[in-house]
Amino acid sequence: MTATLLEGKPVAEKIEAEVTEEAAGLRAEGVTPNLTVVLVGDDPASKVYVGSKEKACKRVGIDSTTLRLPASLSQGDLLRLIGDLNHNQAVHGILVQLPLPPEIDPNAVLCAVDPAKDVDGFAPENMGKLLLGFPYTVACTPAGIARMLDHYEVPLDGSNVVIIGRSNIVGKPLAALLVQKTKGRNCTVTICHSRTADIARHTRDADIVVAALGSPGFLRADMVRPGCTVVDVGINRVEDPAAKRGYRLVGDADFDTILKKAAFITPVPGGVGPLTVGMLLKNTLKVARCCGCKA
Ligand SMILES: NC(=O)c1ccc[n+]([C@@H]2O[C@H](COP(=O)([O-])OP(=O)(O)OC[C@H]3O[C@@H](n4cnc5c(N)ncnc54)[C@H](OP(=O)(O)O)[C@@H]3O)[C@@H](O)[C@H]2O)c1
Repeated sequence: MTATLLEGKPVAEKIEAEVTEEAAGLRAEGVTPNLTVVLVGDDPASKVYVGSKEKACKRVGIDSTTLRLPASLSQGDLLRLIGDLNHNQAVHGILVQLPLPPEIDPNAVLCAVDPAKDVDGFAPENMGKLLLGFPYTVACTPAGIARMLDHYEVPLDGSNVVIIGRSNIVGKPLAALLVQKTKGRNCTVTICHSRTADIARHTRDADIVVAALGSPGFLRADMVRPGCTVVDVGINRVEDPAAKRGYRLVGDADFDTILKKAAFITPVPGGVGPLTVGMLLKNTLKVARCCGCKA
């Protein structure tokens, strides 16, 4: 058996086409959707991510502004800036790029973003709404994974899903999304983490395994059952002298061996990543519609 690749690009292109049309509709109603990204410090990966978000906004007709701030910015000044953005009616969506410099408490910052403008879905109110089953904005990577599985018609209702990783940005919101009592969700979800005894015991029983831990090649072929679906969220740099940059990107799954055993697998790069950006665009439209109504 060779697994079918769950490629992110065609799904992301479909999302961008939908957003382009919806954004044009909003503009015709006098609302130009706007996203303001706050980037603090010089983290190289963050700069790349912010650059790809800016380009995607441009492609679909969303105005984007990036506020590039020095790593020396104090938490107080950042909170004041967010307060200003919350009150600025020209700003629809606010995204604070993570990670923040170590002196700044990310939870304090994420709690300061107006939930109505929270395009990341990280605000406590939006996480709570997701858990309660009436979501507003949903964290982009989990929302992208669900959209990917829907697109490729991977059955979810009644499936056993094992998620490795319990972060607030991937594992926990994904579990909350997939467990919902809604047609096309209704999964039985198990979350594993660094204190889980014998992760393979769980993954071998799973219809779908989501690897979101940040450990290259952690999920091996002997840990999954034949015919399962593997969603590889991990993005890890591993040294590769043959590569132009001296490194290459790999996921959390041992791609080459699982390819011969699973029914579906997401590649890295080119799997979940493009969907994360796509769902950010969707969330920006959602908040623009909400803020447009208030204006
Ligand atoms: N494709 C995308 O768009 C996208 C988006 C976001 C993240 N990512 C990637 O996804 C990966 C995870 O990101 P994250 O932000 O969720 O990471 P994170 O905040 O570091 O969380 C990692 C989670 O994995 C668990 N974990 C770590 N090592 C483990 C091990 N050996 N066995 C079992 N569990 C282990 C941790 O357990 P504890 O809680 O017990 O510490 C934690 O819950 C990273 O590679 C990141 O780059 C990709």
